[in-house]
Amino acid sequence: MTTGKKPWSGRFQKSTAGNVEKFTSSIHYDRRLYSYDIEGSIAHATMLAGQNIISQKEAKKIVSTLKDILKDIEKGKLKFMAADEDIHMAIEKELIKRIGETGGKLHSARSRNDQIVLDVRLYLRAEIKKITALTTSLQLRLLEMAKREIKTIMPGYTHMQKAQPVLLSHYFLAFGEMFSRDIQRLKDCLGRLNVLPLGAAALAGTGLPIDRNRTAKLLYFPEVSKNSMDTVADRDFIAEFIFAASLIMMHLSRFCEDLVLWSSDEFGFVEISDAYTTGSSIMPQKKNPDVAELIRGKTGRVYGDLIAIMTILKGLPMTYNRDLQEDKEPLFDAVDTVESCLAIFTEMLKHCEFNAAKMIMAAKGGFSTATDIAEYLVGKGMPFRRAHEIAGKIVSYCLKNEKGLDNLTLKEFQTFYRGFADDIKNIITPDKAVNSRKHAGGTATEAVLKRIKDFEKDIRKI
Ligand code: ARG
Repeated sequence: MTTGKKPWSGRFQKSTAGNVEKFTSSIHYDRRLYSYDIEGSIAHATMLAGQNIISQKEAKKIVSTLKDILKDIEKGKLKFMAADEDIHMAIEKELIKRIGETGGKLHSARSRNDQIVLDVRLYLRAEIKKITALTTSLQLRLLEMAKREIKTIMPGYTHMQKAQPVLLSHYFLAFGEMFSRDIQRLKDCLGRLNVLPLGAAALAGTGLPIDRNRTAKLLYFPEVSKNSMDTVADRDFIAEFIFAASLIMMHLSRFCEDLVLWSSDEFGFVEISDAYTTGSSIMPQKKNPDVAELIRGKTGRVYGDLIAIMTILKGLPMTYNRDLQEDKEPLFDAVDTVESCLAIFTEMLKHCEFNAAKMIMAAKGGFSTATDIAEYLVGKGMPFRRAHEIAGKIVSYCLKNEKGLDNLTLKEFQTFYRGFADDIKNIITPDKAVNSRKHAGGTATEAVLKRIKDFEKDIRKI
């Protein structure tokens, strides 16, 4: 079964086979670009009239009909079908159906090759703004949490072993920094994609006297693309965006991994509320951190989208090839996934209660202030390597005698080094250890408070 006459039918003796129509069609997913396609066409028609390529009257008719079509799509009155092939053809077909021959003038000086890049650039420009706003909301939540937990001390880990005590606020702001870089990357990507592709036409430009700067102005593009071949072949901006999205997902995923671990009975550092967890169908006692796990899992899917676009692009001869139609599903999937994950994760944080008592208890164990003993000795003029060795011997002694660093007497300390004085007792509590790290980037309360203040300003600047 085949449907309808194709715009290219002049050269063809036979009509397209039904299964080819179905196979080549992208309307079921590129229909989401309809508003951008229409916005682009309105600007294009306006420019064509400005250049006398079509008459003002014709442009007016085209523009008002396109606006009607937009309303009808929004109301669900216009149904698309596979035979429409893609969103460009579907809208153009409808335009011609409504205003006849005049509708056929819209495609002057344009090809679907530059039209699709325009639609995707307009779409992604809007989505990047949304994703940036979502990431900023997450930043604000982290900031709020950092302020709230300024007194909470937790054990910091390296190699998943207790390492040194840190403020929970410092931990939250660590992710704050990662998400700041993510926002910068999005901004960067936006700068590169914010370029008008229309005018490249199929690949070589057009002989018609177009005014690309006018179209750019109408669509709020600060510049026009500089090479027509590059314009229709390039999908760097999609790869770049999905990479930025992958990093956001990776950051979310690492945070989620901690929340999953921390919500276990073994850690007990956090309780995620009932509303943001799910139960087990067999084990009545279970409360599972499924939202966090799903975000972790969906990270893999966005990486998949990145690999898909990179692989689609790698062997393409210049310039446009139909393979490029395959860019949209990974892009849309990455956008949908990162947006939904950012939104739910930010909400979930509101439903997390951090257990300060469990955290400080854990910070007291595991000899997490051993480095502070070594640094104490360095303060007394000892080379760090020797100080490290002495502190290590003290830990070994404690392990053998089942003691914590805080229950050693001064006498015991002095068996390892005579220079230990009473003040050692003040050094080895988690609180003292935390607050000794006062330098920029350190975990001391005063350093973290300063960062909180600056961070707040940084967020506003983004
Ligand atoms: N649907 C196509 C895409 O997404 C639009 C461009 C088609 N161009 C063509 N010459 N067949 O890439």
